[in-house]
Amino acid sequence: MLGPVILAASRSDRMRRLITAAPVTKQVVDRFIAGETVDDIVPVVEDLTGKGLQLTMDVVGEDITTPEQATAARDAYLTLIDRLKDLNLGERVEMSVKLSMFGQALPGGHELALANVRPVVEAAAGIGTTVTLDAEDHTTLDSMFAVHEELRKDFPQTGCVIQAYLFRTEADARRLAASGSRVRLVKGAYKEPAEVAHQNKHEIDKAYVRILRTLMEGDGYPMVASHDPRLISIAQEMARTAGRKLDEYEFQMLYGIRTEEQLRLAAEGHRMRVYTAYGTDWYGYFMRRLAEKPANLRFFLRSMVTK
Ligand code: FDA
Repeated sequence: MLGPVILAASRSDRMRRLITAAPVTKQVVDRFIAGETVDDIVPVVEDLTGKGLQLTMDVVGEDITTPEQATAARDAYLTLIDRLKDLNLGERVEMSVKLSMFGQALPGGHELALANVRPVVEAAAGIGTTVTLDAEDHTTLDSMFAVHEELRKDFPQTGCVIQAYLFRTEADARRLAASGSRVRLVKGAYKEPAEVAHQNKHEIDKAYVRILRTLMEGDGYPMVASHDPRLISIAQEMARTAGRKLDEYEFQMLYGIRTEEQLRLAAEGHRMRVYTAYGTDWYGYFMRRLAEKPANLRFFLRSMVTK
């Protein structure tokens, strides 16, 4: 019940001002956001990769309003990639980007986002790694897939995200699997209307399994992004049946969630990639994490009243 309310609040400027100003917010935010600056994040990258985990880095931010902010987003990724160069981690640390942060919703946004993301993909390739395009709300996806296809002409390893809750995704998965793409499958984190998306958790899980089968049986590289224990064992079974070796697919989870399980899967020899978000514009990302699990919200509210 609470999830949709929190997701609506994630788009409210008034709530953004209220929540980001609350002094206790930071403690709760720190569970999901690995730091604010590149200097904060480098030791985190060293620590997690030292534990056998792989990473995908997200400089948090979305819904920008000026082209200058889009340029700043591009530059933030370029600075990060430049710092990662010295660590020589190659594809063990890739980038995740939201095209909204690169200007997608501004006038001429499709071209602007493509122009801003291309240098990031080039720089990532320069240090031996890749970029994955996150999936945002359904109205942005045709543009995201078109940017993905364009980037893949020069950088075939560029990945994208598909969301099991959307009706369109089964067809997207077939197309992407046939084209040999890297594809991250998630359940979906936005508030979507019943005309375009399953609303029921059980239906979403069933769709996830159907889409996962398409990816596992296809020619691409499936990235199984979920904390759901049932889906993780189904994925392992499907990979075995499809004859995939351990380096022919990977698991992904979010920083701060099921950390022990991340280490367990890595110790079993799986590729386990942690989506590691950092930066100062964390509001939208944080609110989606609250919406996913009511206990997070209870913890947050309790810390506000006990301080
Ligand atoms: P589910 O929500 O059913 O959770 C299963 C279990 O995991 C829970 O019972 C709980 O134990 C734990 N858990 C899940 N979320 C938690 C949380 N916030 N706090 C604490 N515990 C939690 N979405 C999107 O729309 N576009 C995108 O680009 C991405 N990108 C992305 C990358 C990666 C690497 C991951 C793991 C996820 C995303 N997502 C996303 C988010 C995704 O759509 C989804 O909202 C979350 O992964 C939660 O769904 P689960 O599959 O984990 O299942």
